[in-house]
Amino acid sequence: MFKSLRSQLVVALGLLVSIIGLLQGLSSYQLCKNGMGALLDLRMEQVGQRMRDGYAEGIPETPLRGSQDARDIVLVVWKPGQDTPFRSTEPSLLLPQNAPQGFSTSAVNGEEWRIYTLRGPAMTIQIAQRLSVRRELEEATATRTLWPIFVLLPLVWIAVGLVVRRSLVDLNRLGREVQAIDAGHLQPLRTAGVPTELDPFIHSINHMIERLARSIEAERKFIADAAHELRTPLTALQLQADNLQRDIVASNQERFCELRGGIARSGSLITQLLRLARADAPVSGAAIERVDLADIVRATVADVLPIALQRGLDIGAESIVSAHVRAIETDVGMAVRNLVSNAVRYTPDGGTIDLYLRVEAGMACIEVVDTGPGIAEDLLPRVFDRFFRANRDIEGSGLGLSIVKAVAQRYGGAVALRNRSDGPSGIVATITLPLDPEPRS
Ligand SMILES: Nc1ncnc2c1ncn2[C@@H]1O[C@H](COP(=O)(O)OP(=O)(O)OP(=O)(O)O)[C@@H](O)[C@H]1O
Ligand SMILES: [Mg+2]
Repeated sequence: MFKSLRSQLVVALGLLVSIIGLLQGLSSYQLCKNGMGALLDLRMEQVGQRMRDGYAEGIPETPLRGSQDARDIVLVVWKPGQDTPFRSTEPSLLLPQNAPQGFSTSAVNGEEWRIYTLRGPAMTIQIAQRLSVRRELEEATATRTLWPIFVLLPLVWIAVGLVVRRSLVDLNRLGREVQAIDAGHLQPLRTAGVPTELDPFIHSINHMIERLARSIEAERKFIADAAHELRTPLTALQLQADNLQRDIVASNQERFCELRGGIARSGSLITQLLRLARADAPVSGAAIERVDLADIVRATVADVLPIALQRGLDIGAESIVSAHVRAIETDVGMAVRNLVSNAVRYTPDGGTIDLYLRVEAGMACIEVVDTGPGIAEDLLPRVFDRFFRANRDIEGSGLGLSIVKAVAQRYGGAVALRNRSDGPSGIVATITLPLDPEPRS
């Protein structure tokens, strides 16, 4: 019924404490009731003894019938051999003269009475009290012992809730850390402050994270090595093809150009693979510097300007503020270049590409907005997948956005792509990186 550990603990502990509290309440109620009964008996016994010691004569001979309060005890004195009481504080009440010595209970005048009978050679003394009055007194006193429990029980529930919540704070923190584990964030879980019972669990997860990190690193290294090894023969192949072009007969030139194009495509695929493997590698702190994003934006625009002019694209940096981040400059440059080169590549001739650099909530944000065809909404979530290409009519390796994502994650940032919502079709590609507010010495 209760799926969360916290609810289970609160309900179980709360119920346990409540049951113990109620049992304790019931037993003190019963004990108090019995104690009150014993006290009332003791009082009757003491009154009886006092009367035997000479106070019996003090009872008026003819008290008014029914004058006594219903809650009072009734005192009756019998003389041996007489059928009517010698003295009685309530003459209408005819107690059984032959009641056993000590305490007994009898029904007289339609009511139950508790009677204490004390026989002596000179007189028999009887003290009587209505059972209903005694019960009322006993219950009223015993009930007073219950109210602390009824006041304390809700407080106990609140205390149990707070204690359980406090005990699970570290567990919740652990849950959040486990949730944050992914290929880009493979930090071991912290054991500090976590209940010792969870140590084996945390150690197993940390071992798993370690193994995962090792195998991801091995895979990354393999890709980097393979790309590196392939690059040299491919460059040689390209050179040979360049040299060979002159000797190819005119009728074969078209097919030869296709062959060269293929070699060039393989070359850029390998370059992108190498870049991705580098962007995925753990970053070394020493290589990190304070990077001026405005410079990078301007340099990127300058880089693509010749090809943009050639294609009639209007490219410009619109609003640029001063923003610095801590990163490796070539990484950030590569990420921005990938976004801008996508805009250039997928925007038809004569289109417009605008770059913005803003600062929002402690993050520097570079936005590249184009007037291209945009991307079908159902394909958008997949554009960061490796080798995914939404548009197969235009050449590309499908790795550019994966590189941007790896760079952004490397420095605690993010990248997002969405279709424009301000009228014209096109893409708004955004990369955000944590700001470095102060120049460091
Ligand atoms: N600005 C854009 N406008 C339209 N489609 C885009 C845009 N940017 C990316 N895309 C789509 O997303 C896909 C993935 O982009 P990505 O940059 O990862 O790979 P690519 O451009 O195909 O290859 P490369 O590795 O050379 O960059 C592209 O194939 C393209 O279909
Ligand atoms: Mg691209």
